[in-house]
Amino acid sequence: MALGLAIETSCDETAVALYDTEKGLIKDLVLSQVKLHSPFGGVVPELSAREHVKSISYLLEELFKNSGYQFKDLDFVAVTVAPGLLLSLVVGVASAKAVAHALKVPIVPVHHLEGHIYSVFLTQKVEYPFIALIVSGGHTELYLVQDFGKYHFLGGTLDDSVGEAFDKVARMLGGSYPGGPFIDKLSQKGKPTITFPTPKVEGEFNFSFSGLKTAVMNFLRKNPNVPKEDIAASFQKKVADILIEKTLKAVEKFNVPRLVVVGGVAANSELRKRFENLKRKGLKIYLPELKYTGDNAAMIGYVGALRYKRRKFAPLDINAYPNYPLEKFGKEWS
Ligand code: KG4
Ligand code: ZN
Repeated sequence: MALGLAIETSCDETAVALYDTEKGLIKDLVLSQVKLHSPFGGVVPELSAREHVKSISYLLEELFKNSGYQFKDLDFVAVTVAPGLLLSLVVGVASAKAVAHALKVPIVPVHHLEGHIYSVFLTQKVEYPFIALIVSGGHTELYLVQDFGKYHFLGGTLDDSVGEAFDKVARMLGGSYPGGPFIDKLSQKGKPTITFPTPKVEGEFNFSFSGLKTAVMNFLRKNPNVPKEDIAASFQKKVADILIEKTLKAVEKFNVPRLVVVGGVAANSELRKRFENLKRKGLKIYLPELKYTGDNAAMIGYVGALRYKRRKFAPLDINAYPNYPLEKFGKEWS
């Protein structure tokens, strides 16, 4: 039995968790910086890093309160080392180093996308192999996951991520950052009456969302009186169509009937409904609990525990890596 502290600071959430290799998740906390960045329409990297510095000690104090554990009980520290905003990652990595050094315990490095993939494992058991669709503010990627650490990249977005598309279209429709929840809510009052064009994309499993975003902008300009609710619902439907089509292609090509859909955009109600409906086709669909769709440290703790059991510890000079492909990371750290 080993107790891990997990730290996640790759973007605009400061998150910490206590994760036991046998008992599972003990406690996790997330402090969102949404209000700080909202006036700017997106995450401001420097502000994000400074906010992490401000929040991290307070969050760690809170984490141990009423948890039944103390700092000295820790056996390892798991931390997101890649990918993300450089300065934001640095805060998490430096904090992990401070704790690890003080307690003489190892650091276990975790890849942020690996964390998202395993967020479903916090509440469900998934058999290997499976297809993973990661849809977040920073990423839109498809993987064939054969085992822990064996992540085969199938394709990704060539321009905007899905989350970015939601954020930008929301702004066009008068919403504030983050735009996903805004579009989701607006769509519930509208109907998908507009058929936006399907973007042409090179590569079997690649995506593109910038053309769709432009199509919405042009439509709005030419049709200022069409209800915003209908535009939102039509955009959201198109996004779901695109994601489902590509994902099903991967399921068929690799003959893997298990599908994991994760990341901030996996909170979208239309997307969840549409993917859940695929169960009727005999597919096993796994979505994380809503509170674990966005960035959190519980998922980092889960992966940290798996890696701790394999004794894959970071060297003293471990750093923050803003770009580090998941497939490569998996090979090097498993
Ligand atoms: O995973 P996440 O919290 O952070 C990254 O790692 O990027 O994802 C954030 C993204 C934002 O773009 C936000 O607009 C989107 O997730 N999002 C949603 C919903 N809730 C959050 N997108 C669509 N529908 C939602 N309900
Ligand atoms: Zn994320």
